[in-house]
Amino acid sequence: MGEEIIIDKSKSKEKRYQTILPQLTALIKDESDLIANMANMAAILKISFDFFWVGFYLVKNETLVLGPFQGSIACTRIPLGKGVCGRSWEQKTTIIVPNVELFPGHIACSSDSKSEIVIPKIKEDNVLFVLDVDSEVLNSFDAIDAHYLTKLITLIRALNLLI
Ligand code: SME
Repeated sequence: MGEEIIIDKSKSKEKRYQTILPQLTALIKDESDLIANMANMAAILKISFDFFWVGFYLVKNETLVLGPFQGSIACTRIPLGKGVCGRSWEQKTTIIVPNVELFPGHIACSSDSKSEIVIPKIKEDNVLFVLDVDSEVLNSFDAIDAHYLTKLITLIRALNLLI
C-alpha cells in the first residue's frame, strides 16, 4: 500500500509537528514491527523538516547500535557516555546541542552537522533506544522539538525490541 503524508512547509515548526503527529499515529498503530515504525518515523521527520540526519540508535549488548535512519552514512556503534547519544543514554535525558563544536566529546559523523537533539526512549528505567536528529544550521532545536519528538517516540512501543 502506498502511503501519502501531508506536509505544509509554510507552517510553523509546531504546526508541522502537529500535522505529522496524527499521520504517524495512524501509520504506526496497526504495525507492531519496531524497525518498520522507526524507518517510517525517520523518513517523515526528514521530509517534513529537511533535517540533515534523523535516525535511531538501539541499546544492544551494552552499546548503542545504529538503527533505521535517513541521511548520510553514520557511525555504527556508540559506547555509554560517549557523544551526545551516549550521554543521553547515560543520563536518561533529552539533550539539546545548539552548537556541536561546543559539546565536549561530540561524535562528528559528518562535519555538516551543526546542531543536534537526542531523545531517549525509557521503559522501566532502562533506555531502549535514542532518537538522534541533526541539523546543518546552528541552534535548530528547542523545547518545541523536545516536546513533539518525545511524543513521537512514545508511539513506538518497542514491543519486539530485543535487549
Ligand atoms: N553526533 C552523534 C553521533 C551520531 S551522528 O550524529 C549520526 C553523537 O555525538 O552522539
